[in-house]
Amino acid sequence: MPIVYDKSRKIFHLQAGDTSYIMQIVKEKYLVHLYWGRRISSYHESRRIIWKDRGFAPNPDTSDRTFSLDTLPQEYPQTGNGDFRNPAYGIRQENGSRISNLEYIGYEISDGKPKLPGLPASSGSKKNVQTLKVYMEDAVAGLNVCLLYSVFASESVITRSVIFLNKGKKPLHLTKMLSMSVDIREDEFDVLTLYGAHNNERNMDRRPLSSGTVKIESLRGTSSPHQAPFMALLRKGADEDQGEVFAANFVYSGNFLAEVQVDPYRNIRFQMGMNPWNGEWKLEAGEMFQTPEVVMVYSKQGLGEMSRTFHKFYQNHLVRSPYAKKERPILINNWEATFFDFDEEKLLSLARKAASAGIELFVLDDGWFGHRDADDSSLGDWFVDKRKLPNGLKSLAEKIHDMGMQFGLWFEPEMISQDSELYRKHPDYVLHTEERPYTIGRGQLVLDLSRKEVCDYVIAAVRQILKDNPIDYVKWDMNRHLTDVGSMYFEPDRQGEITHRYVLGLYYIMDVLTSEFSEILFESCSSGGGRFDPGMLYYMPQTWCSDNTDAVCRMKIQYATSLTYPPITMGAHVSVVPNQQTGRVSPLATRGYVAMSGNFGYELDLGNLTDEELEYVKEQIQCYKMIRPVIQHGDFYRIRNPFNENLATWNFVSQDQKRAVAFFFEILSQPAAPVRILKLKGLHPDKLYRRYDNGEIYSGDELMYCGISIPLKKEDFRGEMYCFEEIEKGEENGH
Ligand code: GLA
Repeated sequence: MPIVYDKSRKIFHLQAGDTSYIMQIVKEKYLVHLYWGRRISSYHESRRIIWKDRGFAPNPDTSDRTFSLDTLPQEYPQTGNGDFRNPAYGIRQENGSRISNLEYIGYEISDGKPKLPGLPASSGSKKNVQTLKVYMEDAVAGLNVCLLYSVFASESVITRSVIFLNKGKKPLHLTKMLSMSVDIREDEFDVLTLYGAHNNERNMDRRPLSSGTVKIESLRGTSSPHQAPFMALLRKGADEDQGEVFAANFVYSGNFLAEVQVDPYRNIRFQMGMNPWNGEWKLEAGEMFQTPEVVMVYSKQGLGEMSRTFHKFYQNHLVRSPYAKKERPILINNWEATFFDFDEEKLLSLARKAASAGIELFVLDDGWFGHRDADDSSLGDWFVDKRKLPNGLKSLAEKIHDMGMQFGLWFEPEMISQDSELYRKHPDYVLHTEERPYTIGRGQLVLDLSRKEVCDYVIAAVRQILKDNPIDYVKWDMNRHLTDVGSMYFEPDRQGEITHRYVLGLYYIMDVLTSEFSEILFESCSSGGGRFDPGMLYYMPQTWCSDNTDAVCRMKIQYATSLTYPPITMGAHVSVVPNQQTGRVSPLATRGYVAMSGNFGYELDLGNLTDEELEYVKEQIQCYKMIRPVIQHGDFYRIRNPFNENLATWNFVSQDQKRAVAFFFEILSQPAAPVRILKLKGLHPDKLYRRYDNGEIYSGDELMYCGISIPLKKEDFRGEMYCFEEIEKGEENGH
C-alpha cells in the first residue's frame, strides 16, 4: 500500500516508487514533516526532532520552552502565532484579523485520485494511486483545510493540492494559498530554476542555497517565459546521472510562486503555489476553494532520472488528449514563409511542395481572418478574410486534404484588437478597470475571461470555425500578458480574484473545445514557449517551444525544456538561414537534427530552396518518419550540456531498448580540436546493435561505456546523427 498510517505513533508514511514521504502528528494537533527522500521500508523514528529552546522562538505551550512553531518543521505552516518563516497560506477574517492556526482533526485514505474541479490535474486508476486527505481546522476563523497527497505506487511522484472550506457564518478571505510546502531539516542543496524571455526561453540556473530566500515567480497573468513554474533542489554534487533531486512543477498557467527559504538553524522550507500578489479569494460561508496541483518528483539518480519520471508521468497521467499515445504529423507552418502576406495561390504552392516532400500537415498561421495585415487588428473576428481567401477556408482545407495532407489553423482566442468588429460591438469584453486607460501590448488587448459570457463567446466563435471546416490541428496562441486586471462584473472585494478567474475561464474554454473536438490535435503557443506549463499540456499535448528557430539556440532551449517535458511535447521546426532571430547560418543537416529531436516540422518557403536542398529535405522527412516512434515514445537521455560546453548531445532509446537514436552537436569548430567520444545511455548492455549508416555492430555496453569516436570535421554548428537497431545474437556472424 503506498500510504500507511501508524496509529500508535501517529505517523503517515507515503511510498511512491523510489521515494518515502513521512509526516507525524505531534502534541495531538500539529502536523509535522519528518522526511522526504529515498524510499525506506519502514520508519522507526530514527530521524526524530531534537527539541531545543531557541532565542526569539515563542512557545504555544508554556510548560515546554523547547517547543515552538518557529522551529517546528510544519507541513502546512500557519501565520501569526510564532512561526516567523514563510507561511503556506493566509487569511483575513471579516474583523480584519490575519492570524490563523491549524489543528489536526483527522485523515482519510482512499484508492484512486479525485478530480480537481475546473483545474487541469493528473489522474490515475484505483490500482496505481492512493490519496491521503489530512483534515485541519482553525476553529476561531471557521476554516477547514484539507491537504491532499496523491501517491503513485510505481512512480516516484506525489501530487499535492489543498482545499479550503469556510465553515463559519461569515465571509473569509484567503490571501495566500500555496499548494505545496515542505520543511526539510537539511540545507546542503543547490537550487535549479529555469529563466528566460521571448526567443530565449528556459535557461538553466543552478545556484547554491545560502541564507535567506531564493524566489521565482510570475506576476504576468500567465506562467510566462521569464520563469518556469519549476524548482528543484539538488544535493551538492548531484548531476545528470547521480545524486538526489527533489523537484516540483506546478500544473497551472497563471501567476505562480516557488521559493526556498533557509532559516537560521539551516532548515529549509520549499514552497510552490499560486502567487499571493493579486491573488486573493473570498469564501462565502459554506464555500470551498481548491488550489491547483503541484507534481513532486524525487530522483535518486540525478536530473536524467528526474526528467524521465516527469516525461512518463505527464504522458501517462496528465496529457488527456488521445494524441498522448499517437505519433504526431510532420508539419509545415506558413508563418516564417509568408507572415501576413499570402493569398490562396501562395499557400497552395507552398502546400504542393510540402506534400511532394512528404510533409503530413499544413498549418495556416496568423492572418487568415478579419482584415488582418498586421498584428494590430481583427483579433476576435474569427471569420475568414475573403480578400486573401476568396474561396473560403473550407475550400482551402479540402484542396490541402486532396494533396494528402492534414489542415491546421492558427487562433489567438484570448485576445481582442481595438480595430475589430468584436470590440466595436463589445468594448466591455476587454479586461480593464473603468477609470484607467488601456495598456496595449503587441497592438492588442486581453479578453476578460473572468466572465462566463466572454468565455462562451470565445467557445462559440472557435467552435463555428472548427465545425464548418475540416480542420485537423489547431495552434492556440497567446501573445501578450495581463494588464489592467479588473472586471466591473465583480464586487470590489473580489477584484483580487480576477487573475485566477481568468485562468479558470481559459481552462473552461479549453475543456469544452478540446473535449468537443477531441480528434483535433491542439498545440499551445505563447509567442513561442511563453506558456509551456503542465496546465496547458493537460489540454493540449504539444507546445511551440520557442519563436527562436536558430539551431544553436534551440539546442539549449530544448535541452532545458526536456528537464520536465518530453520531446514529443516540443514543437521544433527547420527554418531558413540566415536565421530570422539571430542571423546565424547553420547547416541544414544541423537544423534538421535539432528539430528532429522534438516534434518535427518546417517553417520556411520550400520554394526558395535549391533542388539539392529540397532533395535533402525529402531525406530528412523520410528519416524522421523512420525514427519518429523512438523520438516520440522512447526514453530521452541528455548526455552533454550546451549550457556548460561547446557540445550538445543526447539520445533516445525505444521502450523495448531495441532501437536508439543519438544526436551529436559541436557548436564552434576549434583549432587543435579534441576527438570526441559519444557514450550513449539507456541501452541494454547485453544486446547487440547495428549502426544504420555503416552496418557496424556493437554491444550495448560497448556503446555506453567505450563510446564511439566522432571523426573530426572543420565546421561550425556541426550536427551528426547515429541510429542503432538491435540484431539477434548470431546474426552478426553473417555480416
Ligand atoms: C506568435 C507565435 C508565432 C506566430 C505569430 C503570429 O509570435 O509564436 O509562431 O504564430 O505569433 O502572429
